[in-house]
Amino acid sequence: MESTIRVEKRQDLKPKPDQSKLGFGKHFTDHMFLMDYTEGKGWHDPRIVPYGPLSLEPSSMVFHYGQAVFEGLKAYKTKDKKVLLFRPNKNMERLNISNERLSIPAIDEAFMVEAIKRLVSIDREWIPEAEGTSLYIRPFIFATEPFLGVHASHHYIFCIILSPVGAYYAEGIKPVRINVESKYVRAVRGGMGFAKTAGNYAASLKAQAEAEESGYSQVLWLDGVEKKNIEEVGSMNVFFKVNGEVLTPALNGSILDGVTRNSIIHLLKSWNVPVVERTVSIEELYEASLNGTLEEAFGTGTAAVISPVGELNWDDKKIVINNGEIGELSQKLYDTITGIQSGNLEDKFGWTVEVEK
Ligand code: COI
Repeated sequence: MESTIRVEKRQDLKPKPDQSKLGFGKHFTDHMFLMDYTEGKGWHDPRIVPYGPLSLEPSSMVFHYGQAVFEGLKAYKTKDKKVLLFRPNKNMERLNISNERLSIPAIDEAFMVEAIKRLVSIDREWIPEAEGTSLYIRPFIFATEPFLGVHASHHYIFCIILSPVGAYYAEGIKPVRINVESKYVRAVRGGMGFAKTAGNYAASLKAQAEAEESGYSQVLWLDGVEKKNIEEVGSMNVFFKVNGEVLTPALNGSILDGVTRNSIIHLLKSWNVPVVERTVSIEELYEASLNGTLEEAFGTGTAAVISPVGELNWDDKKIVINNGEIGELSQKLYDTITGIQSGNLEDKFGWTVEVEK
């Protein structure tokens, strides 16, 4: 693949948003990355251009058959103004896993990490510095061939956009209330649950809206066949501390292999906290809450970081966790992971990658 990134900078830089009111995913920086794929030619014309609308044919296959994959990672500005990415290679590795499932051509992972660094470096002034803020990086690929027959597209666009963000949930690090979904399912084994593809999120929206109507922030998905075992939360993987042991659903083909999930497992092991990846049933958690051994619950994700869970609602059975307060372990994990990401704590694992000027 030709690897020189063409850069066209914009002259009229946009005003930056107030760092105390960022929210999540509402503001976009001055530039974006684009690259095209054409069958026979491969990925080509990598370029950084002013952020702005794309022009697509209405017949572009993504609008009809949903070939679209994406990633989410973040850049952080340290106290001494360095810029750090957190495990970007893991995201590009996972993007290729999603690509493979959706019959989208593979990308060159190392080149894409370089492209992310270049884009972030150009828009580095947009990286917020206030506590709990970062620059969210959204790489995504979608099918652009103008054709209505059902097959894999022969043309794609790879785009990366950047968004300065604060907390994903309005609650911030305060525990969220979650509805355990008993009617709809998100994914089944053999489907696309492990891929980060737009359709998985589309499938979640109705349950999410119903949960919100009843006062819950998110949905906890159960397995798609028996609706017995825990899978993941809308935008996070999920962990439970039961009787001193941390449990998380094993990667079984219908769960996303989260980068934060993987980092949390490493951290817990390094602290000698027992952590087990296995099938976890909702019934078992309910029993644990009744006998007082369900000590903590938290979700993990790039956007949400660590989000403590204060309550689960399972068919009107309320499972209140740690009196609705953040648990000690959840707090320690939050402090450690955000400390490493923002350069305030030593990175013993070699997870952070510096973006040069
Ligand atoms: C992320 O954590 O980066 C995600 O992709 C979750 C999201 C859908 C907001």
